[in-house]
Order: sequence, then structure tokens, then C-alpha cells
Amino acid sequence: MSDSLSNITIERKHNHVEICLHEAVGFDRKSSGFDEIEFIHNALPEIRFSDIDLSTTFLGRKIGAPLMISSMTGGFEKASLLNRRFAEAAEHFGIPLGIGSMRQALENNSQKESFSIVRKYAPSIPVFANIGAPEVALGLSASDIGILLELVEADALIVHLNAAQELFQPEGNTDFRHVLDQLSHLCATVPVPVIVKEVGCGISGACAQRVLDAGVRVIDVAGAGGISWQKVEEIRYLRQRERENRFSPEALDDLLNWGIPTTRCIAEVTDIKKHTVHTNFEIIASGGIRSGLDIAKSLALGARIGASAGQLLKAAHEERLEETIETWLNDLRAVLFLTGTTSPDKLQKQHLILKHRPIL
Ligand SMILES: Cc1cc2nc3c(=O)[nH]c(=O)nc-3n(C[C@H](O)[C@H](O)[C@H](O)COP(=O)(O)O)c2cc1C
Repeated sequence: MSDSLSNITIERKHNHVEICLHEAVGFDRKSSGFDEIEFIHNALPEIRFSDIDLSTTFLGRKIGAPLMISSMTGGFEKASLLNRRFAEAAEHFGIPLGIGSMRQALENNSQKESFSIVRKYAPSIPVFANIGAPEVALGLSASDIGILLELVEADALIVHLNAAQELFQPEGNTDFRHVLDQLSHLCATVPVPVIVKEVGCGISGACAQRVLDAGVRVIDVAGAGGISWQKVEEIRYLRQRERENRFSPEALDDLLNWGIPTTRCIAEVTDIKKHTVHTNFEIIASGGIRSGLDIAKSLALGARIGASAGQLLKAAHEERLEETIETWLNDLRAVLFLTGTTSPDKLQKQHLILKHRPIL
């Protein structure tokens, strides 16, 4: 792979962090849907707060709480510091950590430390490698897969589906042919479970069904309501091209807000369990998670764990990552107590109601 291609990847990853930290990149015409539902108060919880235990299992491993730090970064120099912070926090709470796209590590060796640093500070938690659909579509070689897995001693491989992001990305790869076939091949050959995620446009029930048929073990819905990657890439596009008329003004706002709200994705993907042979897959809820309350709602809708990128990136940048996670876990404990449940696994749809439903 040429050094100039690698330099573009390095610069892009750097831009992504900087834009997510300093620009308005949230959905503004759509929400994740968490505010539309609430828990039914249980005036008789009949439990002791101190008996609440947030630990659960994910992909067969015990984890400290149903929360994951989502795939974000790696592949440029300053990413080492961020990945170190994410790794230290994930190890502290015993929660899984997703690494950012490792495409750069397949291009050359210059930034490998920014990925491998994670295992130095997070030796015992589940860590997930990450690669994009466009790279999967081209067919990953056995040596590529070896690099991805060995660099972070990965417990699973995440494949991100990011069609809208690539569409808006100035140098994006919009050839999404053969992704499903190659995904199927990957699932059959890779020695760890494969997780499929979006990056903020969501995975519908129908799409989830197709990737489950291909052999995927976990769906991370990464729905609309948090960061809009169309907006992130639009900012990069405008900075580079100084042009504003790529799409018609009438369509642009809707395209920047394109995607399926997170709560809808969780509900649709959970519904698959009722109707198909796929009953053992797990769901990660992400896309606009802002608190432990959102995580609790996700679990009640059917997710196994919740995950966050944007909010935790800001917290890490402001050196309050562990404090933020601790408050989110306290939110979750509060919900468990007030619904009369002692474990996150016991939260169910019956605990929820729509906020604006008719009284009678
Ligand atoms: C700075 C940054 C970089 C990201 N890079 C990746 C990536 O390399 N691979 C990936 O699968 N997702 C990546 N994401 C997407 C997140 O994992 C997540 O799916 C998305 O931002 C929606 O979650 P959120 O609303 O909690 O931010 C990135 C997110 C951020 C904030």
C-alpha cells in the first residue's frame, strides 16, 4: 500500500476526532427515541439497593456492567493517548472496548503502537478489532485477518457498515458490492465471533436478518440520534472543496439526518428472535446514548449491552471518562431499584411505557 494512501487514512482519523469534539455533528431533525419512552415506577420494589449487581455476560464472558466503549480511534499519533484512556477506563470497570477502524494498520506499520497500546492497559477485558465493509468487500487475506486480530489480541472482529459515511466522505469508497458474500466467508474463516455495526444510520430488522444468515453473532445497531457521520464528512468535504452544492438544499438536511432511530432498530432486531432460527445472537444498543437511563431503556427493549462513542470521547478529552461512566452506572442502578429489579438482565419491555400515550 502506498505511503500517500496511508497518510490520507492517518489524516482522516485525526480529522474525525477533532470534528467530533469541536463541531455540531449531532442529528438535529431526528432523535434516538429514548425520550419517547419511560419506565413504569414500582412503588413496591421489594429489593435492597445494595443487592443490585450490574455484572452480566457478553459473548460468553463475564463483564462488569452492560456498557461498551464503542469503536473510535487508532492509526494516528495522538490516538495512542485516547486509546490508552479508553483502555484504562474499560479495564477499571471490566467492560468491553471496541477499537477504531484498523484499516491504517493494514496499509503500513507506522501507527501500530496506537492500536497495540490498548492491550498494555487493558489486559483482561474483551477487546474487539474493527474493519470497514469496503475493506471486507475487497476480501481480507488470511494475513490481513492475522494483523487485525493479533495487534489487539482481539476477542471478536467488528465489521462496520457505513454506506452513508462513505457516500459523504470526500475520498469515500462507495463500492458496496459483495459485502454480504465476503462477510459470510469471513464468518466461516475467522477464529473469533464477528460483530456487525453501523456508525449512526442504524441496522433494520431486515438487514440484521441478512447478516445473521451470513453467520454474524452480534448486531450493534448504531442507530440515528447521536453523531451523524454524514455531517462529519460534509464538514471535511466543505473544508477541502469549498463547494456547497453537492446535493440540493431541499434534500441536504434530510440526507444529513438519514437513518433509523436507535430505539426503533433495537425493537426491530429484537423482534427477529420471535420469528426465525436466530435466537442466540446478541444486540448492542448504540447511537445517541447519553446516560445510564438510555442504557437501561435499551436493555428493556432487548439489547444485551449499550455502547457509546461520541459522549465518551468528549469525556475522555476532558479527562472525566471514569467519572462519566461511574455516573452512568449509578443511573442504571437507580432504574433497577425503582423498577424492583436486581440485575440488568431482568429489565424487560413490560417495564416501559410510551411517554405520550392516552390516559385511558
Ligand atoms: C471519533 C470517532 C471515530 C469513530 N471511528 C469509528 C471507526 O473507526 N469504526 C467504527 O466502526 N465506528 C467508528 N465510530 C462510530 C462509533 O463507533 C459509533 O457507532 C457512532 O459514533 C454512533 O455512536 P454515538 O452516537 O454514541 O457516537 C467513530 C466514532 C467517533 C466519535
